[in-house]
Amino acid sequence: MLYAIFAIDRNNLFGNKGKLPWHYSEDLKYFKEKTLNKTIIMGEETFKSVLRNDKPLPNRTSVIATLTDYTFKDVEVTHDIFGYIKQSKEDLYIIGGKSIIELTYRLCDILYITYIDNDHEGDTYLNLDLSNFELVDEKVSGILHFRTYKKIK
Ligand SMILES: NC(=O)c1ccc[n+]([C@@H]2O[C@H](COP(=O)([O-])OP(=O)(O)OC[C@H]3O[C@@H](n4cnc5c(N)ncnc54)[C@H](OP(=O)(O)O)[C@@H]3O)[C@@H](O)[C@H]2O)c1
Repeated sequence: MLYAIFAIDRNNLFGNKGKLPWHYSEDLKYFKEKTLNKTIIMGEETFKSVLRNDKPLPNRTSVIATLTDYTFKDVEVTHDIFGYIKQSKEDLYIIGGKSIIELTYRLCDILYITYIDNDHEGDTYLNLDLSNFELVDEKVSGILHFRTYKKIK
């Protein structure tokens, strides 16, 4: 199965200067629960932005999608995200950023989208056409709406 997991706010804001425009520990916890022990695939910019002490996200297998010659010790790199998805035999979680989500979300079976009902400062917006997906679950916690969309076959 192919998944994507990401957050947007009520203005479709998605990023700010290469980072997330917000910090909501409940959303980070949700992201961790969904992706722990899974294979996560992300664009080069997102990979660099999630490094902590020069280490990828712990307890997950990271794969970097890039068109450059970027490499990182012990982390798999693909220059062809579509080919990678096609040949993969295990569940894959696409975690960003903007270009990678835009390229691949239509292929996903499930989208986990945290909708944040608030305004934030930022410079990167994501406008997706979800007409081929149906909302199958939503859990609301304050301003955070944890939505699950399933692809309509
Ligand atoms: N709100 C959220 O949930 C969330 C989650 C993750 C990230 N973000 C935000 O998203 C922003 C980063 O997004 P971004 O679009 O700049 O970067 P990105 O998606 O992380 O990385 C894009 C990379 O993918 C490469 N690429 C393009 N087509 C490809 C293909 N067919 N196969 C393999 N690689 C390919 C690009 O190469 P070229 O540059 O040569 O095209 C580039 O190196 C940041 O602000 C980050 O914080 C937000």
